[in-house]
Amino acid sequence: MEILTVPIKNKSYDIFIGSDLLSNKRIFDDNITSDQILIVTNEKIAPIYLRKIETTLGKKNIVSVILKDGEDKKTIDSFSEIIDKLIENKFNRESYILALGGGVIGDVAGFAASSYQRGINYIQIPTTLLAQVDSSIGGKTAVNHKKAKNMIGAFYQPKCVISDINTLQTLPKREFLSGLAEVIKHSLIMDYKFFTWLEKNIEKLIKHDEESLVFTIKRNCELKSSIVAEDEKEKGIRALLNLGHTFGHAIETITGYNKLLHGEAVSIGICIASKISNKLGLLDNNSLERIINIFQKAQLPTYIDKINLEELIESMYLDKKIDLSGLRLILLNDIGKASIKKAPDKKNLLSLIKNSIEK
Ligand SMILES: NC(=O)c1ccc[n+]([C@@H]2O[C@H](COP(=O)([O-])OP(=O)(O)OC[C@H]3O[C@@H](n4cnc5c(N)ncnc54)[C@H](O)[C@@H]3O)[C@@H](O)[C@H]2O)c1
Ligand SMILES: [Zn+2]
Repeated sequence: MEILTVPIKNKSYDIFIGSDLLSNKRIFDDNITSDQILIVTNEKIAPIYLRKIETTLGKKNIVSVILKDGEDKKTIDSFSEIIDKLIENKFNRESYILALGGGVIGDVAGFAASSYQRGINYIQIPTTLLAQVDSSIGGKTAVNHKKAKNMIGAFYQPKCVISDINTLQTLPKREFLSGLAEVIKHSLIMDYKFFTWLEKNIEKLIKHDEESLVFTIKRNCELKSSIVAEDEKEKGIRALLNLGHTFGHAIETITGYNKLLHGEAVSIGICIASKISNKLGLLDNNSLERIINIFQKAQLPTYIDKINLEELIESMYLDKKIDLSGLRLILLNDIGKASIKKAPDKKNLLSLIKNSIEK
């Protein structure tokens, strides 16, 4: 097992990474100081893992909320369902919420924890690769508004994160590959050496080789937490983590959320950002080729055709991360070196994207 500390001022916490951690009584006992525990999960995950955790926790006063599956359940209604359960069972400030699931469960359960009685303890138990390398770290919690994703939320750090790599065995392959997009993203933003490791080892990762998985999750947690520790509330450098996401979110929005998985849209988004970086003279041809290649090796899409460019650009300007000074793009100066640049005017941006979006 690997243990890593996220060094956030006054709120630092541990991430445990390894196999069969859901049965590791010691971790749960060491990190939970109350007998009142609410497990939030969904109808897909509950039949596989809920019983296991309840057994590990022992005879404590455990209740659960089992939500329906899906991004469209990351709502204020699910949030209310969790709060109802906490009130019904007279949970207090010392109680714990355990978020057992992917990013959807982590985000909604974390948000409920941040606001019930102005904040109670919560523990992330991520069960998707995306959640283990990305959403469970950094303390962003949220639910969606019907008109905009992640519009209602809070920055709220967990007490600890327990990443059991065995849970990935039941994850559908397409979901696993989608998580790899965020892994590649972290390497591109800030770790050339890790990128070269990925070039050599991505096939092993896809085959769920244990050692490679633990190493990858650990390295991603280190990379993401180093950025979060420096800029918890996303006032500066944390924005680099949005590499490929301005394009990715716009692609998700205009293709309808059910066509592409998040990581697939991010993969296309990063390829667009890389091609634009290349056209602007920041990124050399060879690096661009290596980037497209690694996404192909990860069996992720690298381009999209038949998309309405005007609609795409409108959607990018609507993205909530845009401030009054205009659209900013995260571009690559090199593999392992991202930077934030002001976007060119709409007309030039349109032609740059036009030349970067297709194969
Ligand atoms: N808070 C953050 O910093 C942050 C960062 C990135 C993404 N997110 C959010 O994360 C969400 C996406 O997360 P996700 O990709 O984990 O999606 P998800 O939570 O919807 O999980 C993907 C699918 O896999 C299923 N599943 C989960 N674990 C499983 C397992 N072990 N075995 C079998 N099936 C399993 C889920 O039920 C779901 O159908 C989005 O809402 C996104 O906004 C948040
Ligand atoms: Zn993402």
